[in-house]
Formats: sequence, structure tokens, C-alpha cells
Amino acid sequence: MDSKELVLVIDFGGQYNQLVARRVRECNVYCEITSYRTPLDKIKEMAPKGIILTGGPNSCYEQGAPSCSKELFNLGIPVLGLCYGAQLMHLVLGGEVKRADHREYGHTDIEIDNTTALMADVPKNTTCWMSHNDYISRMAEGFVSIAHTDNCPVAAAQNEAAGLYSIQFHPEVLHTPEGTKMLYNFVRNICGCKGDWRMDSFVEESIRAIREKVGNGRVLCALSGGVDSSVAAVLLSKAVGKQLTCVFVDHGLLRKNEGDEVEAVFGPNGPYDLNFIRVNAADRYYEKLKGVEEPERKRKIIGEEFIRVFEEEAKKIGTVDFLVQGTIYPDVVESGLGGESAVIKSHHNVGGLPDHVLELGIPKNLVFRQPFPGPGLGIRIIGEVTAEKVRIVQDADAIFREEVGKATGDWIPDQYFAALTNMRSVGVMGDERTYDYAVVLRGVKTIDFMTADAAQIPWEVLQTTMSRIINEVRGVNRVLFDITSKPPGTIEME
Ligand code: XMP
Repeated sequence: MDSKELVLVIDFGGQYNQLVARRVRECNVYCEITSYRTPLDKIKEMAPKGIILTGGPNSCYEQGAPSCSKELFNLGIPVLGLCYGAQLMHLVLGGEVKRADHREYGHTDIEIDNTTALMADVPKNTTCWMSHNDYISRMAEGFVSIAHTDNCPVAAAQNEAAGLYSIQFHPEVLHTPEGTKMLYNFVRNICGCKGDWRMDSFVEESIRAIREKVGNGRVLCALSGGVDSSVAAVLLSKAVGKQLTCVFVDHGLLRKNEGDEVEAVFGPNGPYDLNFIRVNAADRYYEKLKGVEEPERKRKIIGEEFIRVFEEEAKKIGTVDFLVQGTIYPDVVESGLGGESAVIKSHHNVGGLPDHVLELGIPKNLVFRQPFPGPGLGIRIIGEVTAEKVRIVQDADAIFREEVGKATGDWIPDQYFAALTNMRSVGVMGDERTYDYAVVLRGVKTIDFMTADAAQIPWEVLQTTMSRIINEVRGVNRVLFDITSKPPGTIEME
């Protein structure tokens, strides 16, 4: 182990955990996320300079809720509890947590004591992002409240002598404008981290570590062109060059031109030193999906076929020593944990882009693409998938993305796309009756992708998009706009 300063984020299943880690790294402090089930001895061994307990979906006073030992607070290491972590800290140390009469949610005015180390340089009156049902009804002994809102007497608290701090709201989200400062105060001033850690040195270190591990072995990587697998591929190619083979399965359900874009970056004419195999499997997929309408069945077929195609390619390559999967941090945190806790769906768009993506210099058009689900257009075509329908939705979606891409404004959706309904209706074009498909435009504003509202896309953008789709995409005579929130709708159609 080297001696870099570590802040440990202990994960209680909250939605913003990766954001917490990211904010810490932005303070130039190295940070790792670990499960709340990590044994205390292991935590001691890691010797963090500070510990942050995250939010979580449970009520900490309920039987079986994720917890931590009292000893964690006696290690002489500063601890900051956020939301659930704040409540848990007080409960474990003898305070009391209760269900509130009114859930506090959203932007909330807050008054803070800025003479404290945690709140130094924060204006006395500011706003914060609240999201809680329970509240700290009695603080643990030794704590004093250092912030309050109209409904929440203990919005932040400290036991300075013990190095313990709690924040009921979410300093990690941008909706808490002063939140980054609070986290900075904690890791840099209270924990005393020097702030000499840099992302680029982390990338260098990772490359060195991969090189050491792989030696002369051959590596196979499934590449989708998405952020996760692209990062894995680039890191590996920098580490072991041509010992790496990337297999890119074009399942015929990608967005318009996407297959070629991925090939342009990772193929023989791209900047990276690796073996690239593109498998054009569209026909195979369309054949398997013929006549299949049920969404879950479609998802299964698309997933299974991927594994089959990938295996066939792996066999052709022969001996493979390492199989690489680009994955997301929640998978890392959740893997290796016992099975009793409900798997919490953490969405990978939540934390924004991992910082190393930018350090690696992966082309922006790949990195800043709209999020795209694994089953691709297969779940944006309601009902049976055919080559013709894929063409329609690809073209309509490309137009919609182009039109939104030209615009600016607060309304710009966090995710937007065109989908194809299974509905055909009568229309008239050029004096002729038509009987064609309806394309639906979907755009949502969301923070965590677990709930979402329809984005208020300006009329002109919708209108231009509509008229371009009708004029440029054969087979469409109607364009609809989906105003459904989530819930009850999901973001994707299937
Ligand atoms: P839903 O439709 O569940 O989508 O509201 C929430 C977010 O998840 C994405 N999504 C997926 N991503 N594989 C993925 O990699 C999938 O099977 C999948 N299904 C949904 C969706 O695009 C949205 O961002």
C-alpha cells in the first residue's frame, strides 16, 4: 500500500453515493466507496483520514436496517454523516430518530452557524437540497445543532471534540450551492487532507498496475462504445497495446451511424493501439426478434444473443487469459456483498461522468452521447422489431437529437430520444391518403433517473422536429410528444 491520503465513503445504498465520492476527489483527495458491511478491522487497516457515511433509502431505527458499530465513531478519525448517515450516527450514539409528520423534499432555505469549521465561508442564509422522511428528534450527547430549516431543527450538527459531524441534507448535489464548500471544509480542514492527489496520476498508476497484472497475457474486452467499456478499452490499450482484442457487437439496434462512429475511434484508423473486431450481427438479431412483441422477452433475446455472438468470437481468437468488462462503481460496491440486502438500483448516470474519462482523452462525441440502454432501439420500438422500423426510429431520433443539440436553455432534457409506437393511423400527404406509423418524442428532466418529469421542450423545437421527421423519414405520418412523468411511465418505452 502506498501512503496516499484516503477518505472512505461508507455506502448505505443512497442514490448520490458516487457523487459524494466525486466531490471529495474534486477536493484533490483520494476517495474510495465501501459497503456498510465492511468489517471494522478492514476499515482500520485502510487507515482513512476521514469517513463519510452516505444517505440511504431505509429508516435507521427499523429492524435489519443497514447499520454500523459504535466503535466506528471512536477511532479518532473524523466522521461526517449525510442524510441517513447523519441519522444513523445520532441513533447509534444514543440520540433519537423519528418519522416526520411532513416529508421535507426539494430546495429548502437554511440558516447555518458559519463560525464552525464545517460551515466556514458559507453564508449564514443559503439553500440546501432536502430529501428525508425521518428526522433527528434528539441529538446524541455532546452534539450541538449548527444549522436548521423551518421544519428541521437539526439540519446539521457537530460534536467537535469527538470529530463527529452530521448533515441532514445533501451537500453533494448541485442543488445545494454551498455543499461543495462544506465537503471541502470537512476533508481538507477537519480531516486535514493535504489535497495533493491528482486524477492524471491515478490514470498513470492504473495503467502501470494493469501492465503488471496482465504480463504477456491476452485480453478480451466486450466494447459497446458506451463510457464504461470505452474507458476499459482505452486504459487497457495504453497498458498492453495489441495484447488486447476488443469485440464490438453491432446488433442492428444502435442509433444512426453509431456503429461507424465506434469503429472510427477504436478501429484500425483510430488513435488506439489494439485489435478491433466489429461483428455485424443485425440480421441475426432481427431473425431472432421476428414476431416477438413482449418487452421482457425482447430484452432476454437481445441479451442472450449478445453472449452467443461474443462467445463465438472468443473461440475464434483462441486462448484468452483475461476477460474485461467495463462496469460501473455500484457493481463494484455491491459485488462481494452477501445476499440478504435488497439490491438497490443505483443509476449510473447519477454521478455524471467519471473524472478519468476526461483524463483519458476519449473523443467527446462518444463520451457526451445521450445515455443509451443496453438493449438499444429494441426497447424504443414498441412491439415487433423489424429492419424497417429500426430505420424509421434511427432517422427520427437523429433529427430530434440534432434539433435539441442546436438549442440551449434550462429546459434541455437530461435524456431525450425518439421512439416508435406500434400505432399506424390515417393521414394525408400530397393529396394522398397515408396509413403510417406514429413516432413519439420523449424528453425528461431528472436527477437520479428513478423519477422524472417530462421536459418542457419549446414549441418551436417540437414543431421543427415534427416537420423534419414527416418530410425526411419515410413511413411516418404523425409525431407525438410524451408528457408522462416517471412514475407512472418509465423513461424508456419498454
Ligand atoms: P427506465 O426506462 O427504467 O430507465 O425509466 C431509467 C434509465 O435507465 C436506462 N435504461 C437502461 N440502461 N440497460 C441500460 O444500460 C437497460 O436495459 C436499460 N433500461 C433502461 C434508461 O435509458 C434511463 O436512462
